[in-house]
Amino acid sequence: MRHQNILVIGGSGFIGGHLVAALAKDGREVVVPTRRRESAKRLILLPTVDVVEADINDDATLRRLVAGKSAVINLIGILHGDEKAFEAAHVDLPRRIVAACALAGVPRLLHMSALGAAEGGPSRYLRSKARGEAIVEAAGDGVPPLAVTIFRPSVVFGSDDRFLNLFAALQRWFPVMPLARADALFQPVSVHDVARAFTTALDDPESFSRIYELTGPDVYTLRDLVRFAGIYRAGSDGRPRPVIALPDALGKLQAACLEFAPGPTLMSRDNFDSMKTPNIATGRFPGLADLGIAATPLDADAPVYLARRNRRSHLDHLRHDAHP
Ligand SMILES: NC(=O)c1ccc[n+]([C@@H]2O[C@H](COP(=O)([O-])OP(=O)(O)OC[C@H]3O[C@@H](n4cnc5c(N)ncnc54)[C@H](OP(=O)(O)O)[C@@H]3O)[C@@H](O)[C@H]2O)c1
Repeated sequence: MRHQNILVIGGSGFIGGHLVAALAKDGREVVVPTRRRESAKRLILLPTVDVVEADINDDATLRRLVAGKSAVINLIGILHGDEKAFEAAHVDLPRRIVAACALAGVPRLLHMSALGAAEGGPSRYLRSKARGEAIVEAAGDGVPPLAVTIFRPSVVFGSDDRFLNLFAALQRWFPVMPLARADALFQPVSVHDVARAFTTALDDPESFSRIYELTGPDVYTLRDLVRFAGIYRAGSDGRPRPVIALPDALGKLQAACLEFAPGPTLMSRDNFDSMKTPNIATGRFPGLADLGIAATPLDADAPVYLARRNRRSHLDHLRHDAHP
């Protein structure tokens, strides 16, 4: 069955933007709810995409959005917050989405989780993601039938990521990089591969009731990734800033300071705790290759967008310095 009429919850975010564009390119009708239409403005021009301002935390609104769809994709996730916020985003929302699908007779649900999700995981993020997964998995065995697929990506890279771009930007301003959990392991996966995993699985019965681990071909330490991004920082001579690995006690203190600093949260104690678990494929679940997707290496894609973005930001700064 080809799923033509799709609701993408969380479609206005980083991964959602790429996935919704891929679905639209495929000629599918997509509805994207958002709290602020402004945050989804790059999707508004896509011909088969309808961006609607809606509160998905309201049951009646959620039911209205789900009604008449042949598939629902849930991408909602938060990195920071208290226990209540994680519970609402990662556990209560999947439960409410499953209930809305059952009520409306929607036959297909794709759900975004995260690599390392585990009931006994080291962070609120990973524990709440696991509880959300369990609810979605159980719905796959329920009545009426709901075909579910769950995805667990490692950290995701792409032109508008908030990970390599952030590390590159920080190295413009700081002469050294004090780094918590410098030896934490990651297996970064391309946002294009993640979007393809969703579009491929969508109509494929082989993917029903399965969990996919989405990872790139290579494993890096956090220190490697910071150094990699630093090569492309604006104004760089190709040399990243020196990385100073912080011992755990200092790393946790740094995370606490960043958590309470004004402005957008760059890091929290919960993120620090998440990094206790290696963010790499366990090999216990199928992956991109099982969906017929060859994983894109980080160094095939990231140097291009990091260099482009940081060249632009370097020029902006030069212009600003010339005409303050
Ligand atoms: N990016 C990664 O490296 C990565 C790695 C592993 C797993 N994941 C998972 O992949 C999913 C998507 O990640 P992303 O990086 O694309 O996230 P993102 O850019 O932060 O986008 C998430 C979207 O969800 C919506 N949202 C967030 N909190 C909400 C809330 N409390 N109520 C209603 N809407 C809310 C926001 O929409 P509006 O603001 O427009 O309403 C936002 O556009 C998440 O589940 C994340 O945990 C991401």
